Amino acid sequence: MSGPTVLGIESTCDETAAAVISGRDLASNVVASSMDEHARYGGVIPEIASRAHAEAFVPVVSKALADAGMTIDDVDAIAVSAGPGLAGCLAVGVSGAKALAVAADKPIYGINHVIGHIAVTQLQFGDFPSDALALIVSGGHTSLLHVADVARHVDVVGTTLDDAAGECFDKVARLLGFPYPGGPHIDRHARLGDPHAVRVPQGLTQGRAGHEHPYDFSFSGVKTAVARWVEGRMADGKDVPVDDVCASLAESVSTVLATKAIRGCLAEGSDTLIVGGGFSANSQLREKLIEVGARNGVEVRIPRIDLCTDNGAMVAMLGVNLVEAGIRPSAPDFPIDSSMP
Ligand code: KG4
Ligand code: ZN
Repeated sequence: MSGPTVLGIESTCDETAAAVISGRDLASNVVASSMDEHARYGGVIPEIASRAHAEAFVPVVSKALADAGMTIDDVDAIAVSAGPGLAGCLAVGVSGAKALAVAADKPIYGINHVIGHIAVTQLQFGDFPSDALALIVSGGHTSLLHVADVARHVDVVGTTLDDAAGECFDKVARLLGFPYPGGPHIDRHARLGDPHAVRVPQGLTQGRAGHEHPYDFSFSGVKTAVARWVEGRMADGKDVPVDDVCASLAESVSTVLATKAIRGCLAEGSDTLIVGGGFSANSQLREKLIEVGARNGVEVRIPRIDLCTDNGAMVAMLGVNLVEAGIRPSAPDFPIDSSMP
């Protein structure tokens, strides 16, 4: 499909990424991660991540253009994640993107990273049907959104009141001795365990009484319940059945996410659920969403794994949407916004 050619640049957390999209064709997609440097600290260290972005920016952007067989002159616009994310990390990516835009005289769009996680699904599944719902699940976010127009208007239908789903997995993983990020380790062990071996509460299955959103989530109590159970076993001198703990946690979290997201679709009259964010790589959640979606006649669009975690394609794709929608580029001095809503 023809359409504008956009270079997307991503640096919100520990991935320095760049990609080129022409219309709906992914011409290149390059990701460099500083994840290994953070593993021994048990979480992302902003200072280390920022330095890694500064080192990786030029090589990653150059490779994305080279892989696409292009130079900067061939792109119509540059898009860069302006938030939400770690301020120092955002500053490196946004400053680099601004410099490139000025030097090459290209329009630049500062985009919302979270909306990028939704936009990227178009590469695999085509454009959005009107009024889709989107479930965004990552290390920093867990939200159900109503996507009226991905370039202009997205409403929050529900969100986590405390921890994000990925954060909950990462915290339990730490307790079990897995390195950061622990989510993928829990996923792997969960496949070997009994999902009903340990009683894990689902947290806010119905929404909080009197709260305006019946689609809010809460995972902090889930994490605490698992932690208490594991610590109790240890105090009693018993082995911790790691596979069973992981499987039970995954069953609880994936069930509440899938049930509420599909219930939200039915209530809002939407027959399509878009899924995005790093946690949507989780195999138990993917299975559960497909199963609950199929049972209720909702089409679930989950991107392939490399498009779930942070990447440049999500930024470039939203950039294409903005150009196509005739949205004005950002002002040359647009700010980063680490807590962008
Ligand atoms: O979207 P993302 O790459 O970065 C953020 O914006 O947060 O998401 C990273 C999160 C981490 O919490 C990581 O543990 C989790 O996604 N994650 C997973 C899996 N792959 C990544 N969690 C569970 N199962 C997975 N397979
Ligand atoms: Zn993300």
